[in-house]
Amino acid sequence: MQNYDQVDLFTDTSLIEDPYSYFEYLRSQGPAVYLPKHNVYAVTGFQDGLPVFSNHEVFSAAIAVNGPIPPLPFTPEGDDISEQLEAVREQLPYAGIIITEDMPQHAKTKSLMMGMITPARLQANHAFMGTLADRLIDEIIDKDSFDAIMDFGQPFATLVIADLLGVPEEDHPKYRILRSNLPGMIGNQGTPHDPLEEIGLYFWGYIEDRRANPRDDVLSRLAQVKYKDGSTPDILEVVKTATFMFGAGQHTTVLLLASALRVLAEDQELQQRLRDDRSLIPAFVEEMLRLNSPVKLEYRLVKKTTEIGGVEIKAGATLLLILSAMNRDPEVFEDPQQVKLDRKNGSDHVAFGRGMHACAGSPLARAEAKIGLERLFDRIANIAIDEEKHGPAGQRKFDYEPTYTLRGLKELHLKITPA
Ligand code: HEM
Repeated sequence: MQNYDQVDLFTDTSLIEDPYSYFEYLRSQGPAVYLPKHNVYAVTGFQDGLPVFSNHEVFSAAIAVNGPIPPLPFTPEGDDISEQLEAVREQLPYAGIIITEDMPQHAKTKSLMMGMITPARLQANHAFMGTLADRLIDEIIDKDSFDAIMDFGQPFATLVIADLLGVPEEDHPKYRILRSNLPGMIGNQGTPHDPLEEIGLYFWGYIEDRRANPRDDVLSRLAQVKYKDGSTPDILEVVKTATFMFGAGQHTTVLLLASALRVLAEDQELQQRLRDDRSLIPAFVEEMLRLNSPVKLEYRLVKKTTEIGGVEIKAGATLLLILSAMNRDPEVFEDPQQVKLDRKNGSDHVAFGRGMHACAGSPLARAEAKIGLERLFDRIANIAIDEEKHGPAGQRKFDYEPTYTLRGLKELHLKITPA
């Protein structure tokens, strides 16, 4: 057994394959465990973590993307660092995007985003999901094996967001190949140039063009979206918000689909149950979100000294909400390691966070998983693990993305039998 005392969650690749044993070790150490190397307190309990999502007086989202890396550009002083934070906020990585904003700026950006994802747009987007899934299945159906990530999940998740935001279909091939860098990569791997920047440039072009020459299309409506008070946002604000949606919704949804397909490929009985009774798919998706939460960790900066479960939490530290552990808390979820489709509180998990920063794309992600699985079941009679790639049962080998923030497979090769 590993000596977890010495482990560094933010740099140690030994936790990538199995982070859960370490999270259980942290649970055994108390409600809020201090990890001095990065000045972090780790919370694993569901009830201990829940109030953090809504306590904006004490916890700031300013470091929500990468947590304690890089460290703060100042030395925290005293029991309230609010002023120190505001003085450097704009210099922090990912400043100025919705996920790192606190009130009142967050409400302003959120109203912009909600103006972009209208109910009518979501409805049209759902129809597109089925068509897109079929197109992607057409590409794999004659192969005897495919990679559920690069051949299906990745283009599916990316093009669903492209459609949601009104990217014309003739531009879809350009988007399909743009895979943004993953957050929290250990050793900061990833391309030096994030493909999200390219998406930002495309959006800049669309919005500038549609503001000058409005047409009857979704992008023209996006170009005219207003803040709640009726004022028009800078192009940059619209571009940042649209671009962030690609980053936030791409990998997370792919990882959800891949973990669901892996479980179904391993458990043929469960696969058959869902095929026979499609109404069980949503409960299955909730269990996958809970058990294999694509976002392992959430980060908040402690603005004011406080306490959690009797442990003093110092201003200036990072509060680590371990979503994967909260979602496996035995005090809240009975037999937490089991997939139970009849779980009474199955959708109470925090895989999408909670409170004002709760995932804006959760209905989309749930619909993508449901429609994706339904179309795969309709077109493919059987899904199984490709043993040439992953080895025989009992000796499987899977590689995971080396990020401390996300949990998910790098590749998932599946054998298929067309229906
Ligand atoms: C299974 C898929 C997904 C998971 C597990 C997931 C998870 C999360 C989590 C945990 C947060 C909260 C972060 C925080 O509080 O620090 C979040 C925020 C967010 N997500 Fe997702 N997400 C998923 C899919 C999507 C999709 C498809 C989109 C958009 C198209 C999206 C857009 C966003 C946005 C915009 C935020 C920031 C909301 C805010 O700060 O107000 N997500 N997501």
